[in-house]
Amino acid sequence: MTPDPAWRPTRRRPGGTPVTVVVDGRPLPAAPGDTVAAVMMLAGASFRRDRDGGPRAPLCNLGACFECAATVDGRPLTRTCLTPVREGMTVETRERR
Ligand code: FES
Repeated sequence: MTPDPAWRPTRRRPGGTPVTVVVDGRPLPAAPGDTVAAVMMLAGASFRRDRDGGPRAPLCNLGACFECAATVDGRPLTRTCLTPVREGMTVETRERR
């Protein structure tokens, strides 16, 4: 499948105070109303890995598949596609042991 060359990420909505979300120790800029998954995808951040170490990524963006699951502010298996950003939010994509 060839990517559409006209595709561009949606411009951020004007207004609101920008926030910072920390993903695996990396601070990422975000706009109020963004979901954590959207911020991570725009930044090229990685999501969880499967048992064999293969990368996973959001699939449905509707809250049904859990492919975007991460630990958000200490809560495991949070669906990042449904989670709006907040200032100072921390996200861990590595599975806890
Ligand atoms: S992308 Fe499917 S639940 Fe988030």
